[in-house]
Amino acid sequence: MKDFLAIADYSAEQIQDLLELAARLKKEWLAGGNPPLLKGKTMAMIFQKPSLRTRVSFDMAMRHLGGDALYLSPQEIGLGKRESIADVARVLSGYVDILMARVFDHEHILELARWSSIPVINGLSDYNHPCQALADAMTIQENFGTLKGITVSYVGDGNNVAVSLLHICSKLGAHFRIASPQGYTLDPQAVELGRRFAQESGSEIFLTNDPHEAVKGAQVIYTDTWTSMGQEEEARQREAVFPPYQVNAALVREAAPEAIVMHCLPAHRGQEITDEVADGPQSRLFPQAHNRLHAQKAIVARLLGAA
Ligand code: CP
Ligand code: NVA
Repeated sequence: MKDFLAIADYSAEQIQDLLELAARLKKEWLAGGNPPLLKGKTMAMIFQKPSLRTRVSFDMAMRHLGGDALYLSPQEIGLGKRESIADVARVLSGYVDILMARVFDHEHILELARWSSIPVINGLSDYNHPCQALADAMTIQENFGTLKGITVSYVGDGNNVAVSLLHICSKLGAHFRIASPQGYTLDPQAVELGRRFAQESGSEIFLTNDPHEAVKGAQVIYTDTWTSMGQEEEARQREAVFPPYQVNAALVREAAPEAIVMHCLPAHRGQEITDEVADGPQSRLFPQAHNRLHAQKAIVARLLGAA
C-alpha cells in the first residue's frame, strides 16, 4: 500500500501486522529506545485544523526513529486556496519522504494521495481517522489480548472516529454496537461496508438510538465529542440533542464489570463524558492517547519500507 487513508482500504492481515509492529516498537521504546529506522527521512505535516495528539505523536515518532518532521499550519499552506492540492502534492513530493495531512473534506486527502509520489497518511478527515483507530485497536488488544469476540459500544455522534472504529472492529472480529440520536447516525454506506467486513470476520454490527441497549454487557464503551471540528456552528443544536448519550457512571455500570472506557480526546468533560468516568478506574483515555505514538511509528515505518 502506498498510502494510509482509511481503515477500509487495509486487510485484516495488514492491520494485524501494523498492530504487531506497533507493539514491538512500543516495547523497544519503553526498554530504552528505538533504532534509527527512519534516519534521514522527513515528514511534512499539513494541518487544516488544530491538533495536540496527532501533531505531537507524529513529530515524536519521526524523531524517535531518527527522522524529522515539519509542521505546516493552516495559515501557511492554504491547501486548495493559495495553491491547488495537486500542486502542493507535487511540490512536497520533491522535498520530503512522506506526507501527513489533517483536512476537512476526505476528498482532499484522496486528491493529495493521487498527486503525491510519496506516501500520504490521513491525520483525520470528515470521513475517517484511521491512525486513531489503529491506536484504539492496540489499546483494546492490550486490555483483552484480542479484538475477536469483544463487544465495542460507541455512544454518540456517528462521525469520522465512529466510522474508522466500526471498520477496524468489523475487520478484526470485534462486535460493534453504536447508539446515536436520530439525525446523527452513521453514514449508511460506511455501515454497509462494515457489514461486509463483519461477515468475513464473523462479528456482529448493531445500530440503535438507545445508549442503554448499546452498552449492555459491553467490554468497551467509546465516546467522542458531540461537535466535531468544522461543525462549530451546530454546537448549540447538538448540545440540546446529545445529553442522553453522556457516558457517565450510571451508564458504565450497565456494561460488563471488566469494561474499559475510551475516548479519542479532546474530551468535553461534563458533556459526552463525566470527570468521574474519564478519571475513574475503568478509563483508558491516557494509555489510548499514548498509543498514538507507537501506532504512528508502525504506520510510517511500514509505508517507508523501513521495518
Ligand atoms: N485524537 C486526536 O486526533 O487528537 P488531536 O485532534 O489533538 O490530534
Ligand atoms: N470527531 C472529532 C475527533 C477529534 C480528534 C473531530 O473530527 O473533531
